[in-house]
Amino acid sequence: MTRTRFPDDFLWGAATAAYQIEGSPLADGAGASIWQRFSHDPRLMAAKGATGDIACDHYNRMESDVALMKEIGLNAYRFSVAWGRVLPEGTGRVNEAGLDFYERLVDALLENGIEPLLTLHHWDLPAALDDRGGWLNRDSADWFADYASVMVRRLDGRVRKWVTLNEPWVITDGGYLHGALAPGHRNLFETPIASHNLMRAHGAAVRAYRSEGAHEIGLVVNIEPKYPASDSPADLAAAARAHAYMNRQYLDAALKGRYPAEMAEIFGEAWPEWPEQDLRDICQPLDFIGINYYTRNVVRDDPNQWPLRASPVPQNATYAATDWEVHPPALTDMLVWFRDTFGNIRVYITENGAAFYDPPQPGPDGIDDPLRCDYLRTHIAAIGDAIERGVDVRGYMVWSLLDNLEWSLGFSKRFGIVHVDYDTQARTPKRSARFYSNIIRTNGGNL
Ligand code: NOJ
Repeated sequence: MTRTRFPDDFLWGAATAAYQIEGSPLADGAGASIWQRFSHDPRLMAAKGATGDIACDHYNRMESDVALMKEIGLNAYRFSVAWGRVLPEGTGRVNEAGLDFYERLVDALLENGIEPLLTLHHWDLPAALDDRGGWLNRDSADWFADYASVMVRRLDGRVRKWVTLNEPWVITDGGYLHGALAPGHRNLFETPIASHNLMRAHGAAVRAYRSEGAHEIGLVVNIEPKYPASDSPADLAAAARAHAYMNRQYLDAALKGRYPAEMAEIFGEAWPEWPEQDLRDICQPLDFIGINYYTRNVVRDDPNQWPLRASPVPQNATYAATDWEVHPPALTDMLVWFRDTFGNIRVYITENGAAFYDPPQPGPDGIDDPLRCDYLRTHIAAIGDAIERGVDVRGYMVWSLLDNLEWSLGFSKRFGIVHVDYDTQARTPKRSARFYSNIIRTNGGNL
């Protein structure tokens, strides 16, 4: 193979999350999650009636889904474990049948030469733990570390890349501040507490991993670069606030052991003083950072926007079906910024992709999704640019393998490179899947 900008052992994968694809959320002794509750409550769900009860039925189709990954040519797959399948009450008793599902998945991946990246928490907190305060309870750090240890004891070695949390910002902004995601709270005072406990849980799980695991562990954050709409001091400050809130809050805590000064400005009296020992516990050496990148924002000062006082300014650009601007150069800028700010830590792009309005059913030639092909091509090229500038990017996971449950938005937003017919569960690779296969085959040389 001719050399490309991508390292020879670059991981080319796809990502999913348990509640979004598995279905059968209560099967084989699993305990309900906060998403099970949230999706069944029509007062909370934007897409009323959409639930993870069936989703992509991956729980029953795991073997054929792994065969599909192999067919596409993936050499990595990022998935998450539903905590409540393994520990139905969140702590204590282990449900062997739940653990067995993930063990079989990992074995199937390895048999097919696909490297597993396991995310311990992708938003589906056991409901039993929410009843004890969820992420508002300081004990949540210990609950999470105990769960992590159960998983690591069973799977470390077969799984060599572990992720503690997926997108803590989304959990807290959606789940505790705006109520759009589970558990559906809207409370300014709760939000920093939930964030802080999530980060304490991250730190505790990393420490647990160091005593029982022997491979790599990291954190996945969503980064959305913020560009000021003008060079007025008000817009510059708005962009800095948005950047601190969404991007730096978790990276600064995990990698520098402090929170950005802007946090107190944003949350006012709702921003507590944190014990210094907590920050030391949060800031653990990591083997990698996973970055989920979808879009950027051009931001202006906006006194009416609570509590950030910053709003995005619409651009004359292509937008995905989620109303996210398509802007690949911001991915290069962001990776360079990350390296310059935090050092040359290994990076995996743990999610990148887009929902577009695909044809609803496959035609004779399958599903033609040129916008998604273009999205993948330009974003992978943007990563190549960052690698050329010395950023240590080691892998790319497209979001998502399959069309799936886009949380409170239901099944309307299709991110998959494989189309799912939710009536028949038929999987049809889209043109983007073939396009991606080609990129993988040439190690990114064919952009
Ligand atoms: C981020 C989340 O991790 C994932 O669950 C979600 O479906 C995608 N982004 C798209 O919004």
